[in-house]
Amino acid sequence: MMWKFLAAAAFALAASTAGAKGASTMFEAPFHRGVNVLGYDPYWTHTTDRRFEWRHFTEIRTAGFDFVRVNLQAFSHMDERNQLDPVWLAKLDDVVREAQKAGLGLILDEHDFNKCSTDVAACRTQLTAFWQQVAPRYATAPRNVAFELLNEPHDALNGEPWNALLADVLAVVRKTNPTRIVVVGPTHWNSLNDLSDLKLPADPNLLLTYHYYEPFHFTHQGATWAGEEVKGLHGITWGTAADHAAMASDFDKVRAWASANQRPVLLGEFGAFDRSGTPVEQRAGYTAAARCEAERRGFGWAYWQFEGDFIAWDVKANAWVPQIRQALIDQPCGGKKGERG
Ligand code: BGC
Repeated sequence: MMWKFLAAAAFALAASTAGAKGASTMFEAPFHRGVNVLGYDPYWTHTTDRRFEWRHFTEIRTAGFDFVRVNLQAFSHMDERNQLDPVWLAKLDDVVREAQKAGLGLILDEHDFNKCSTDVAACRTQLTAFWQQVAPRYATAPRNVAFELLNEPHDALNGEPWNALLADVLAVVRKTNPTRIVVVGPTHWNSLNDLSDLKLPADPNLLLTYHYYEPFHFTHQGATWAGEEVKGLHGITWGTAADHAAMASDFDKVRAWASANQRPVLLGEFGAFDRSGTPVEQRAGYTAAARCEAERRGFGWAYWQFEGDFIAWDVKANAWVPQIRQALIDQPCGGKKGERG
């Protein structure tokens, strides 16, 4: 009880300090180089069919990453009273423990973004229930465990509905985690073009995220889930000086917003689809460029994704895809913004 009171008092102090003139909301987040994991793995439903094993956390750490962004599709593991299945929660505990044991930070990302963007009222109920149950569970976790309120709000959540929902869900988290890093991003699938519509509460521990898949007709050529216009595309290339300049200019927009709003930044997803015949050299060139543009501006990043599609790790070969690993870790960035990485 006393602990709860202290937590609430600490939050009230933090919130008022953030609102005070000159108080900084810029901090060094312990998330530099990361990769998205476990979003579409049978681990959550039929554990024996899992592709991701605990040893992969060690592979990720040893390669040079310092965190994972864990994509949680939790709504389908709730009962009719929106209580999370204790078995699912225990599996999440295992993920957190094993990643930490391997020396990795974690961003716990609620990834029911399509459900949420279809029915805002239902989302509000389930997202609130999710954070009411998950946030207290990790209230004493180290600072390199962060919460991401919701992946890629879009459609029905565009505009004010997202600003209203994120403030309310953040307040739920803050009841038990007054200073934990909370990751939050703009609408239209975390698009940098919507940054000006995003209203962040006066909270000093928010990490701004955006996702970058531009040009979409390159990164999503041949993808079946991303609209008619990209489904049939093949053979689109990327890498001209103009392509690099466009990327640099986009990332500059994010930097300008971050410096005006004094927020640290995480590029939470980027990459190019691997099953459309796009040569791996093309995908690696794009990946290295985005990673380096992020690093040059001091943004942390998380590649989409470890395995499944856009793969960095080849499960069958039991090895990294060498060109993607090179692009993400081994290749030095050097140079100035907009230059070829
Ligand atoms: C989605 C994935 C998708 C990826 C790239 C992620 O946020 O969860 O289903 O493959 O974005 O489009």
